[in-house]
Formats: sequence, C-alpha cells, structure tokens
Amino acid sequence: MKWRIVNHYAELSRLAAEMVAEQVRNKPTSVLGLATGSTPIGMYGELSEMVRRGEISLKGVTTFNLDEYIGLTPDHPQSYHYYMNEHLFSKVDLLPENRHIPYAEKGEFSDEECKACEEYDRLIEERGGIDLQILGIGHNGHIGFNEPSLSLEVGTHVVALTEETREANARFFRSIEEVPTHAITMGVGSIMKAKRILLLVSGADKKEVLARLYAEGVTTELPASLLHLHPDVTVIADQEAAGWLPVEEIVKEET
Ligand code: PGA
Repeated sequence: MKWRIVNHYAELSRLAAEMVAEQVRNKPTSVLGLATGSTPIGMYGELSEMVRRGEISLKGVTTFNLDEYIGLTPDHPQSYHYYMNEHLFSKVDLLPENRHIPYAEKGEFSDEECKACEEYDRLIEERGGIDLQILGIGHNGHIGFNEPSLSLEVGTHVVALTEETREANARFFRSIEEVPTHAITMGVGSIMKAKRILLLVSGADKKEVLARLYAEGVTTELPASLLHLHPDVTVIADQEAAGWLPVEEIVKEET
C-alpha cells in the first residue's frame, strides 16, 4: 500500500484526477470502478474540466459504480444514479451504454433473488474487469457498502446498512427515517479483482479509521484492511486525515 499525503482536499482531487487521466491516456478503453460520497466530488470536477478542455476523452471508457441504495429511484436526488449524473456523466463524453450503476428494486432483499447482482458481476467480467477502482472509506472502514462483519461477501450483493452508515449519510436526507435501510454493492472480491485501486481519504473525521487501516492487520471488521492484500493500492489522503502518519512511510507531494 502506497501512501501519498497531500496538503488539502483540492490537491487530493487534482492528483486523483491526474491518475485517472493517466490511466485513460495509457488505455483509452479503460474500465473504471467509480465511487460516490463527498470525497470524490472534487476529482469528478477536475476530470470534467480536463474533458471540457480536450485534454482527455472518456469516449472509449466503461464505468462501473460500486453501489446504490435500494428504494430510491434513479431520479431521486440522493440516489447514486442522480449523483453520478450531476457530478460526472452530464459533463463528459462517456457513452450512456458504457455507464453502469448497480440497481435493485425494493423487495430484492435476498441474494437468491438478486438477479441484478449476478448480472452486474457478469458484465464486469465481460468488459474485461476493472483497470482502476476508485474508493472512499466509511468511518467504520466500509468500502462500497461492505460493512464490518464476521464475514464479507465476495460478489455483488444486497446489504443491510449499519446504523452508523445510515447516521453518517443522514446529512443528505431530511431525516434518518428517510435513509434507505438496504443497498446493493459490489463485494470485496469484485473490488479486489481490480488491477489498480485508488483510495481517497479527506478530513479530520477520517483520522481514526485511517489510523486503524494503517496499524491493524487484515480483518473483516475493517473491510478496507483487505486492501493490504492487494498488490497495487495507492491511498491519497490530505493532511487533516493523515498528516500524523510517520513521515518515512509517506511519499510527500511537492507543492
Ligand atoms: P464520504 O463517504 O466520501 O462521503 O466520506 C465515503 C464512504 O462512505 O465510502
């Protein structure tokens, strides 16, 4: 795991966008794994600008998002379909048929019934697998919506959200009651199959979980810790989240 500590959020966004752009320049038909949440918003803004300025094109790129709430229609302002459209899809030349976000109707709460889950994993394989996966991390260490648990699911599946996650996301809804109780998410196996992974972490509220990721071994109680087993993971974190990490372990960015 490579750590790149930058001064602030804007720098994190620029560096992350530059890494995505480099991936796309090297392989114009790249398959990207995309994340939602507040952290990647700046990166999507930078990427949109790069496309607008003609520095890169996403025409040949295919994307797969990590997760989506169950029970919100794609036009709901808090759905991840809406988020992706708002922050990236409406601003870039990514072809509609190449954008994928998992979707399950309410009621598909058991994996046996989750045809959409199997179909999603099949589609990722069919497109050649994910070249670069963008990730955020939850306060409880979740990646996608893979919540801390005694065991973790390998493939795309339906998950009951923990209270902690629902509370963390309640800020986007009028009340906690409105936060969906379930989501569909890529599993840790699908995430770990990505050739490269980029984990973005910003803000003092992520300090504690980052300390755990840095110091702890691999445990399903901290799903992000599985990333220690992946051969090509870069963590980009800002000073607020990771400034306290021992300097010798850090690739310091020139500013
Ligand atoms: P955040 O979410 O970027 O809004 O902090 C990260 C996550 O929960 O994965």
